[in-house]
Amino acid sequence: MNLFEVYKLWDIEPIKGLDTTLWDKEGEVYTDLYGGHAVISVGHCHPHYVKMLSEQLGNLGFYSNAVQNSLQRELAVRLGKVCGYDDYSLFLCNSGAEANENALKVASFHTGKAKVLAFRKAFHGRTSGAVAATDNPKIQSPFNATSNIVFVPLNDIEAVDKELSKGDFAAVIIEGIQGVAGIYEPTADFLKGLRSLCDKYGCVLILDEIQSGYGRTGRFFAHQHCDVRADIITMAKGMGNGFPIGGVLISPSIKASYGMLGTTFGGNHLACTAALAVLDIIEDEHLVENAEKMGEYFRKALANDKAVKEYRGKGLMIGLELNEGYIGLRDRLLFEKHFFTGAAGANVIRLLPSLTVSMETAESFVNAWKELTL
Ligand SMILES: Cc1ncc(COP(=O)(O)O)c(C=O)c1O
Repeated sequence: MNLFEVYKLWDIEPIKGLDTTLWDKEGEVYTDLYGGHAVISVGHCHPHYVKMLSEQLGNLGFYSNAVQNSLQRELAVRLGKVCGYDDYSLFLCNSGAEANENALKVASFHTGKAKVLAFRKAFHGRTSGAVAATDNPKIQSPFNATSNIVFVPLNDIEAVDKELSKGDFAAVIIEGIQGVAGIYEPTADFLKGLRSLCDKYGCVLILDEIQSGYGRTGRFFAHQHCDVRADIITMAKGMGNGFPIGGVLISPSIKASYGMLGTTFGGNHLACTAALAVLDIIEDEHLVENAEKMGEYFRKALANDKAVKEYRGKGLMIGLELNEGYIGLRDRLLFEKHFFTGAAGANVIRLLPSLTVSMETAESFVNAWKELTL
């Protein structure tokens, strides 16, 4: 049987990792400033993470959501404390798209309404509701087409008001920082405006922090730079450092009922253990603070570089829009200098490294960048 070829692959196969270093099967060494697409939050194969997961695997890997699982409760308490939403409730699932799918469903159950406002260039995942709220017709099948989603431009509060005033919206969904789009931020005023319009018109404000959350921007959630609280927050990528897990934080004003949501694998013992290990490491190693500090370093080093048209983002969620003449730099960084980075289209390089990234690693990347762009 062949694989269903949906990914364009580089001809490189990493087989071992440690923190921000990867080794491929030929023994070549790479530095990972991509974090496997913003997933590796605490570094590859962190010893504490490996130890906790190995021990849990030796005890119990999985049982269903029909029995008590104190790891889920421990995770909810720990997460609530570290993210500042300790009065919220946690629903656990397996991926980012699934987190958003559940968030949209909860908002619709809660309000009894069907419509959702989303933003131009948004990416929320590939399941039915999530992909419908994603502004990319190429990845929406006819089956996904729905008139329940309305898109308006990011940071256009008048357009939001015009739509929500119609009174038939369950929710507004917005990324903490738009990632796939190429790193675009909602302004603080816009987020505050969204908060008050959602209150005014009885809509649920959903913050998709799947890429921008878990400390990446120098706050636990990106929207916390703006002093705004959401009704529902979704998270995934950095949560399990590669072990599949997603989470939905739900405001106490929204009530649960038995059977309202459900999943076979969500919140299993290994996933919760991975998430608990990640929180231990984030706290013990002060990684949210490191993300902020290293983000400042990258900004100073690259914001005025001649190859960079615009430096966007916060902390370690960085978009480097390239000037003409530098397209292709991502491949050169990989093949000539052995640095993995991300991209958005042909002209934006995305840096999404582990929050553990050191000054030495960051400097070596900047030196490689400067050598290639001389
Ligand atoms: C903001 C955002 N939301 C949702 C998703 C979907 O997450 P997953 O691929 O885990 O379903 C992504 C993935 O890139 C994302 O960046």
